[in-house]
Amino acid sequence: MRQYLLLIAMMLVAIFTTSGCAPVTPGSGETAMTPSEPRCEYLANPGGVDVASPRLSWEIVGGPRSARQTAYQVLVASSADLLAQDQGDVWDSGKVDSDQSIGVNYAGPALRSGQNVYWKVRVWDQLDQPAPWSKPATWSMGLLSAGDWSAKWIGKDEDETKLTDRRLPARWLRRDFTIDKPVGRAVVYMSGLGLSELQINGQKVGDEVLSPALSDYTKHVFYVAHDVTSQLKPGANALGVILGNGRFFAPRDSVGRNTATYGLPKLLLQMHVEFADGGSQDLISDQTWKLSTAGPIVANNEYDGEEYDARREFEGWSMPGFDDSKWETPQLVAGPAGTLCSPMDDPIRVTGTLQPRTVKEIQPGVFIYDMGQNMVGWCRLKVSGPAGTAVSMRFAESLNPDGSLYVANLRKAKVTDIYTLRGGGVETWSPRFTYHGFRYVEMKGFPGKPGLDAIQGCIVNDDVPSAGDFACSDNTINQVYRNIVWGVRGNYRSMPTDCPQRDERQGWLGDRAAESRGESYIFRNDPLYAKWVRDMSDAQRADGNVSDVCPAFWPLYTDNVTWPSAMVIIPGALCDLYGDTQPIARNYPAMVKWVDYVNTFIKDDLVPIDKYGDWCVPPADPKVIHSTDPAQLTAKPILGTTYFYHCLTLMEQYATMLGRTGDAWRFRLMAAQLKKGLNDKYLNRQTGVYDNGAQTSSVLPLAFDMTPPDVKQRVFDQLIAKIEKDNYHIGTGLVGGQWLNRVLSDNGRADVCYRLATNRTYPSWGYMLDHNATTIWELWNGNTADPAMNSGNHVMLVGDLVTWLYEYVAGIAPDPQIPGFKHILMRPTIAGDMTWAKATHHSPYGQIASEWHRNGKAFDWKIEIPANSTATVWVPAGSEASVRESGLKIADAAGVKVLRSEAGFTVLEVGSGNYEFESALAK
Ligand code: BGC
Repeated sequence: MRQYLLLIAMMLVAIFTTSGCAPVTPGSGETAMTPSEPRCEYLANPGGVDVASPRLSWEIVGGPRSARQTAYQVLVASSADLLAQDQGDVWDSGKVDSDQSIGVNYAGPALRSGQNVYWKVRVWDQLDQPAPWSKPATWSMGLLSAGDWSAKWIGKDEDETKLTDRRLPARWLRRDFTIDKPVGRAVVYMSGLGLSELQINGQKVGDEVLSPALSDYTKHVFYVAHDVTSQLKPGANALGVILGNGRFFAPRDSVGRNTATYGLPKLLLQMHVEFADGGSQDLISDQTWKLSTAGPIVANNEYDGEEYDARREFEGWSMPGFDDSKWETPQLVAGPAGTLCSPMDDPIRVTGTLQPRTVKEIQPGVFIYDMGQNMVGWCRLKVSGPAGTAVSMRFAESLNPDGSLYVANLRKAKVTDIYTLRGGGVETWSPRFTYHGFRYVEMKGFPGKPGLDAIQGCIVNDDVPSAGDFACSDNTINQVYRNIVWGVRGNYRSMPTDCPQRDERQGWLGDRAAESRGESYIFRNDPLYAKWVRDMSDAQRADGNVSDVCPAFWPLYTDNVTWPSAMVIIPGALCDLYGDTQPIARNYPAMVKWVDYVNTFIKDDLVPIDKYGDWCVPPADPKVIHSTDPAQLTAKPILGTTYFYHCLTLMEQYATMLGRTGDAWRFRLMAAQLKKGLNDKYLNRQTGVYDNGAQTSSVLPLAFDMTPPDVKQRVFDQLIAKIEKDNYHIGTGLVGGQWLNRVLSDNGRADVCYRLATNRTYPSWGYMLDHNATTIWELWNGNTADPAMNSGNHVMLVGDLVTWLYEYVAGIAPDPQIPGFKHILMRPTIAGDMTWAKATHHSPYGQIASEWHRNGKAFDWKIEIPANSTATVWVPAGSEASVRESGLKIADAAGVKVLRSEAGFTVLEVGSGNYEFESALAK
């Protein structure tokens, strides 16, 4: 016993001399550490995993302060029972001395296509004590090679050039089959293009909608794996699939925008049934199926809406024994050229509902509903009336002064759903293959007077888990934040779209290049953005050029830098925020190719190419879309050169990380040339003005650290002078706006960020609030500007506001040197007259929280650091002596090490746990 105590004492000394913190002993009531939230490939219990060696991650909850994992053990079993008996018959990692808890590669024997496994993990703490096992989790493998597919592509091809209407009737496909033995497990692998719904025995399978994920179908084609074991029954069964257009059969033809379209809808389906006796049976899509286009979905198209005639329903069509003798035999059709793969991101679901707030009859029989919120999705209609009655619903984001729908900004999108009643009772319906961005719904043709309960708004988006919350003492900021959350989620559609309502809805790269960093605090979006970066590689041409829109449904190979830079910037952010290095490693060759492509345009040490400028700088004229004021616009070579410089500095880091020192050196030299080129040509060293002194012209060189140190203060002063001249209003477009707040805060003027964030006059986010916005507009003057390009639900003008709120105001940021929030930089910013702010962020390591209150000079701050993470903490304080933690002098606080004093801060190093600091501010 004595020996044991001595050993513990020695270990404690060892642990706390290495970490340098005051010792912590578990107090009463503290729970032991337990691994939780087991994830495979960053997803909870994914099906259809198609990487050979999936990455496993877990969080750790509980434990005393400074709880750390010192070892782990992963068990992977072939059955839940074996796992419950702690048998890792597939893989037992054994005890691995490591603190890694994110992205641990499965290292057991090769996994088979379709294999289903159960797994759990346990960890050891600093005292080498094992924690209890995590709850069991699962993953199942997808079809790993092309040879695993025996199914055939089936459909009904027509001459696309002869189809004048892009709103096709849905394709209905069905097949009967028999199960004559007890089933162990059954999985359907299905790619139903463009969109599809699977039914078995009259029931929809799963809860995904608008499935599968979008892609460039010539490069990758997504299939979905559905475990259907519980839906099969002994004897007669039936499979049914409905196919809609999606983007495969594009909502517009190639005229004008050159919209990419890939053919008529088609299906590839393979059901693998494993029987309890060990045998198996495969059922595949082929000409034993039946097809009809005469069903109730008479027209579908994402921009224009869906028309459903319930009188044409095939009753029982996905039940066994349905009479399909009048249906046709499907054609065997050519499949798309892309590689079949599993999407590995969160599917789209109905993630919530909204009840309308009001309904008004604006003309006889014309009713306008107000949902109270600009939302994305569709309406579920409830109606009863005579057969053949057609009820139409049209959608818009705002109203005309006379109370009718304002549809001018929807351009040519018809956004109209029509339901024709079958008659004879209450009927409920919602569309399957369209979606709308709307706050208002115009209903016509309703039999009688529709009440508020005639429709329900269904919110439809990628079902990404929520990851954070932010609030502060300023209500404008809180409302703007709320609008941002609505806008971001509504624009997640297996790619981040620019807008959800008009005839566009594209993945424009520039909108999210750096803005997406902020989104990651709100939603756990690593799988989505990792997928999008691959879409970018897919959209790359042989010469290295990348389309400004990815997937390249609008192939825009414009020789641009600011938009394609997303392919370089986003992987770095995913590494910082999630510790996920795969997007860097996987897309590195494509990034190098793009860098080499842009390199060919360099002239006089400048990158003169740029397509869109600093898009959507606020114009003085309320009617126009783009400012023409030369004082507000940033020269295109400044945009191209600074952005490319930034990409090169990131590329240097990526190359170093991947051990490509030659590349790293090359990128560094290229960057140095550009820095010189920019400053020689555009910087007036005497005045500190870059070119014309537009806000973005100074923001970008400062953001990317291109300004010579001796001139930096002057340039920053000029930026402030310019903002003052602009009456303390934002003067950036979407490019400069993605860095503005960080530059201001980093240079000591968080008060200016606060003014910009709380402004209510034009141009500002607050101005949008005062004009009824419940999301963020595409244009600063969205209430008055030309409707041709004026969406009410864009994300791009968010800029770096969310990043600023979390990383600066709340002070929660990842340490790029030890990424993924393994080491956290906690440094709050007291901006303007803010008296409090609080944020939580669910990081890969678990919950991080920060909540501060200021009262005169008194500052109190509660923080939470997840287990197996550490943090450097900047406590705002006039002196170290004024800092207390849970009432104790800082030197006596458990798990806290004082590092240094810095202007206005006492800097500490802490381990995991909850801390409560009190301090006296310098002023
Ligand atoms: C889109 C923007 C995009 C821009 C670039 C607009 O139509 O909505 O999000 O970045 O075009 O040209």
